[in-house]
Amino acid sequence: MKLTVLTLFPEILKGFFESSIMKRAVERGLVTYDLVNIRDYATDKHHKCDDEVYGGGAGMLMLPGPLGRALDAAGSPGVRTVFVTPGGRLFNQAYARDLAREPKLVILCGRYEGVDQRIVDKYVSDEISIGDYVLSSGEVAALAVVDAVYRLIDGVITGESLAEESFEGGLLEYPQYTRPALYDSIPVPDVLVSGHHANITRWRLKKRLEKTLAYRPELLSDAMLSDDLRGLIERIAAEGGIDEPD
Ligand code: ADE
Repeated sequence: MKLTVLTLFPEILKGFFESSIMKRAVERGLVTYDLVNIRDYATDKHHKCDDEVYGGGAGMLMLPGPLGRALDAAGSPGVRTVFVTPGGRLFNQAYARDLAREPKLVILCGRYEGVDQRIVDKYVSDEISIGDYVLSSGEVAALAVVDAVYRLIDGVITGESLAEESFEGGLLEYPQYTRPALYDSIPVPDVLVSGHHANITRWRLKKRLEKTLAYRPELLSDAMLSDDLRGLIERIAAEGGIDEPD
């Protein structure tokens, strides 16, 4: 996947692309990226990129001129173009899976009060919000979108890791433990060291259900659950759950 991120602060994004799993994905050729400084497309001597809002109101807007030239150079329109903004459609795992199918993505980071609407109308295919709160920098929101998307590209991380994590199958992830078996006098749940794989699977499913019910009950709507999972839930309910300690 080719990722082109348009920003006034490329240095905020640079470290992410040069570290950890993303670094490896880039080295392996699974991801290519371009961090474009919108200011490079300003034509005046002060490289001005913002101005006041027509009709009045607080704050400044990003100018359409530099943005339009940067977007043209990035190949948009013609490439799926995301604008991260608190006024966008709410991002989630299904949305990330959809974007991960694209061969190229252009991502526009907003600053100030936002961007001139003509830029949105001409270039943007997806206005995305990462949550119901306002960030001062669109770069942080763009990184959340990039991170959720690129890790779903084939080969970036193992399919096994993806299958068991939160939201896959419509449930939150089960609790996990590592060594030592006794930490601060707190033992790892017996079932996990029992070697009984069927019981471990049931315990984990039970924990996923309990956690989802406590934190995100809306995820348990029928529409979100696979037939397999619904079958397992019914069987566990019919059997009265498992007797292993919590
Ligand atoms: N920019 C500022 N806040 C944001 C949010 N919640 N989502 C996406 N972009 C943003």
